[in-house]
Parts: sequence; structure tokens; C-alpha cells
Amino acid sequence: MVKILAIESSCDETAAAVVADGTTVLSNIIFSQADLHSKYGGVVPEVASRLHIECIDKVVDEALKEAHTALEDIDAVAVTFAPGLIGSLLVGLSYAKALAYASNKPLIGVHHIEGHICANYLNGLTPPFVCLVASGGHSHIIKVSDYRNYEILGKTRDDAAGEAFDKVARVLGLGYPGGPNVDKAARNGTPCIPFKKPDFNDGTLDFSFSGIKTAVINYVHNAEQKGEEVNKNDLAASFQKTVVELLSENTFKAAKQSGVKKVALAGGVASNSALREEFQRLAQKNNMEFFRPDPIFCTDNAAMIGAAAYHYYVREEFSDLSLNAKAYLPINFTQADLLEKGKNKWLSAKNDA
Ligand code: KG4
Ligand code: ZN
Repeated sequence: MVKILAIESSCDETAAAVVADGTTVLSNIIFSQADLHSKYGGVVPEVASRLHIECIDKVVDEALKEAHTALEDIDAVAVTFAPGLIGSLLVGLSYAKALAYASNKPLIGVHHIEGHICANYLNGLTPPFVCLVASGGHSHIIKVSDYRNYEILGKTRDDAAGEAFDKVARVLGLGYPGGPNVDKAARNGTPCIPFKKPDFNDGTLDFSFSGIKTAVINYVHNAEQKGEEVNKNDLAASFQKTVVELLSENTFKAAKQSGVKKVALAGGVASNSALREEFQRLAQKNNMEFFRPDPIFCTDNAAMIGAAAYHYYVREEFSDLSLNAKAYLPINFTQADLLEKGKNKWLSAKNDA
């Protein structure tokens, strides 16, 4: 059995987990800072890094304890190294490097979005499949032909879906993080307000969410100027319906074009109840299998990093201690991206031999 200790600190969750063979979660500890950031209406990067420093030691200890695993029995230390808030990433990465060095274990640097996709491996998904990754920072349609093989079929041209949810929640006074609150409000509303969907007219599978976000803001401001009351639940339901349609139409188009029979959801927005229902409906209609992680593995967590890292481990794709954090990095990055831009050495045992 391969046991990987995984660490995730790319945004405002300090998380550690122990995952066996890339599929079995032995422990999954998450310290969410969301309450502390909510009074500012969003994540304050400096506050986030400081809080990561304060609690990472305890979170990792808890993960090992809950998994009934000693550090000596771990086969590798995995950590998110990109993309994300640089100060937050650096806390997890430095901690993981120190732990790997001190315990003489291999280090595995994992891409955060790859982690989100691999959360589905905890639920029995195997490639090939098409995955929609929708989070606070990303909205991508990705074809996964095989483990560690990613092709971006579509992406947002402006805001991420989660970002639009958070902004709309703020305008409606629903608080941070916005997604779950909009989801809740929408369940009590009727999608009676028509919002226009972007029409790129070029056969693309890309998304755009800034138009609908602005339309919601304008709707609220217009009502305020006229002294009219806004029905927040109806507005949330109308916004959510439009976003869900945008996300699902393109993803299923991509899946059909790719000829795959499995479709998956990943990222924080994947825990949206309406999106899950619509994917379920369309999968049935198109005779496809639908996979989505349990909600706790949709938002940021370290178990997903452990699931992804297993496929690096079996390929002996280990990182060296010069691995650096990166705020931006595409999921289909190459070793050259790391060497050129970060001057990191990406060690592969195969290359060494
Ligand atoms: O994956 P994640 O935890 O962090 C990032 O990598 O960004 O995603 C967080 C995003 C936030 O924008 C949050 O509002 C959104 O996911 N989110 C949701 C729901 N739960 C979280 N959006 C819509 N509906 C939800 N139920
Ligand atoms: Zn995330």
C-alpha cells in the first residue's frame, strides 16, 4: 500500500490528509479560515499566510494521528505548489519540503487544479473522461485521456464561475464565501429574471461570466435607484440558472465531441446543487456516466492532492527541494515551464537513470 501525506494551502484552507493508493482517504483535516476573512468580504492574502503558518503544524499532526500513521510509514510528501496565493502556497510548500528532507521521503509538487480533478478518483472514476473544473479562480473544461494527461478544451475568457458567485453574493448582501449562500437563496426562489448568455459565435467551448455578473449588479442598482425592493431569492435563482446552463451546455458539447462516455465535475462550484442536478440529467439523457466528488472533496482539501500525487509516485515523478511556488501555471505545464520560468529542477527518476 502506498501512503501519501498531502498538504494544501493555496488559498484560505490549511489542509492535510493521508491517502492510500490514490483512492482511499485515511484522514482529511481542513482548517477553514473563511470565517476570519468574511468580515473583509473576501480573502486577505497577508492574513491567510499568517494563519497558515499558525496552524499548519497542528493540521499535519492531526492528519497523521487520525490516519494512525507514523511519519516513518509515509511513502511520500505531496504538496500544492501552484497556482494560488503566493504567500499561502509558500507556507505549505516550505513545510512539505522541510518534512520530506527531515524524514528522507520523496517530495511531490502537485498542481492545484489537477488535485481538484483527481478528487474524483476517490469516487471510483478512471480515465478517459471530460471534467468541468469550476472554482474561485478557474473555469476549465479538461479532457483527461489518461492519468497525468490533460487537454484544455475550453476556459473562461474573463471571470471564474466561483468569482461570479462570490461577487453576486456580495451585491445581494449574502456574505462570503458567496457560492453556498447563493445556492441556498436560489432554492427558495424562482428563476423568473431573464439574463442574456454570451454568444461568441465562433464554435468555441469557452465561457464568459463577467456579462452576467455585471447584469446582476446593474439590476440591483437600478432597483435601488427606483426605490424598488429586489427579491434576492429570485435574483439568485435566475443568476444561478444562467450560469449552470452555460457550464453544462459547453461541458456536454465537449464530451460529445471527444467521444468519451464519462463526465465529471470538480472544484468548489461543483458542490452547487443545481449544477449537480443538471449534470445528472444531461448525463442520463446522453447515456453517459456522471461523477462528482463528495462536497467536502469539491472545495479545497488535501485528500485530492494525495489522490493526484499517487500518479506521480507510480511514475517516479518526484520534485526536488528547489521547487518553487507559482501564482500562475497552466495545468498542462511542461518541465520546461518550471525550468525556464522558475529555474527549478524537476527531477524524474527515469531521467536520472
Ligand atoms: O475550489 P475552491 O474551494 O477554491 C478555489 O480553488 O478557488 O472554490 C471556491 C469557490 C468559491 O468561489 C465559492 O463561492 C464556490 O467555490 N462555491 C460554490 C458553492 N460552494 C463553493 N459556488 C456555487 N455553489 C456552491 N454550493
Ligand atoms: Zn481550489
